[in-house]
Amino acid sequence: MDLKQEISALEEEVRGHLSTIETLEGLERFRVGYLGKKGKVTLLTKRLGTLPREERPEAGKEINRLKAWVEAELERKTHTVKEALRQKRLAEERVDITLPGRRVPRGRDHPITLVSREITDIFVGMGFEAVEGPEVELDYYNFEALNIPKDHPARDMQDTFYISDNVVLRTHTSPVQVRTMEKQRPPVRVIALGVVYRCDSDVTHTPMFHQVEGLLVDKNITMGDLKGVLTRFVHLMFGKDVGVRFRPSYFPFTEPSAEVDIQCVICKGKGCRVCGNTGWLEILGCGMVDPAVYGFVDYDPETVSGFAWGLGVERVAMLKYGINDLRSFFENDLRFLSQF
Ligand code: PHE
Repeated sequence: MDLKQEISALEEEVRGHLSTIETLEGLERFRVGYLGKKGKVTLLTKRLGTLPREERPEAGKEINRLKAWVEAELERKTHTVKEALRQKRLAEERVDITLPGRRVPRGRDHPITLVSREITDIFVGMGFEAVEGPEVELDYYNFEALNIPKDHPARDMQDTFYISDNVVLRTHTSPVQVRTMEKQRPPVRVIALGVVYRCDSDVTHTPMFHQVEGLLVDKNITMGDLKGVLTRFVHLMFGKDVGVRFRPSYFPFTEPSAEVDIQCVICKGKGCRVCGNTGWLEILGCGMVDPAVYGFVDYDPETVSGFAWGLGVERVAMLKYGINDLRSFFENDLRFLSQF
């Protein structure tokens, strides 16, 4: 095969090879294969010396032309491949700005907050005023002035967190009764909602929970008023068909004392696991304010009388929403909290 034929065969080969290149590595392989030290075009140049002298100028021109053409083609192809790669990358990196954004989760009211608000609204609607008292409380208000002296066995009823000899974390909201009566003369109509603490922790007890205290003192207040107010509360809270019963009980600061049960909201009084097959659930303690308590706040038990109650907020929330584990209120699991 003479050189001319070889050159045109090589041209054919180069065209075919170029059309298959799609990557930068392919371009480099092409460059090495034709224009590199041992490339096919380079090798042709080296053959020049083997030709007869008179043919060399002509052949040299042809080879140079071929080399220039291959270089130009390589450059053109390099540009095409780079552009194609760029387009591909742009397509892959495309951002769809019409996609909806990620939603920021919205906070919600805790079920205890919801129920607290509902309880407050009901009593405020009956004319009670919402007041507050300290959570770190003097022994005097938490016990002494509620007719529970230092060595009184009733202190064992409530497992107290002591800060010091005469300072405690309040074990109930009842000290607010005393603080209110100290500041105010009858008629008194208050509720006090807040956190209380007891050194007690198991499936049905948490060391911190919420109570709503109520106190009404005026002239001629009787147990009938107590029953009326609390029955109305139960009916507004749980529905007017729910049964209510007052069961005799004991508290040092009320006399007589009672506990209030409502018909089990789960089994409607038939008896189930939640109510221990009794059909009833206890929701609060109450009673007529003991005259001994009036002695501490300088009220005259001959001219005024009144009643008080203490209600467990978690208990009400569990019954209202059918929650069977007290601990879910304190675990702050968003899957639980977002249901209310
Ligand atoms: N303080 C009592 C308790 O925590 C409840 C109560 C309040 C009872 C007011 C009677 C009157 O158990």
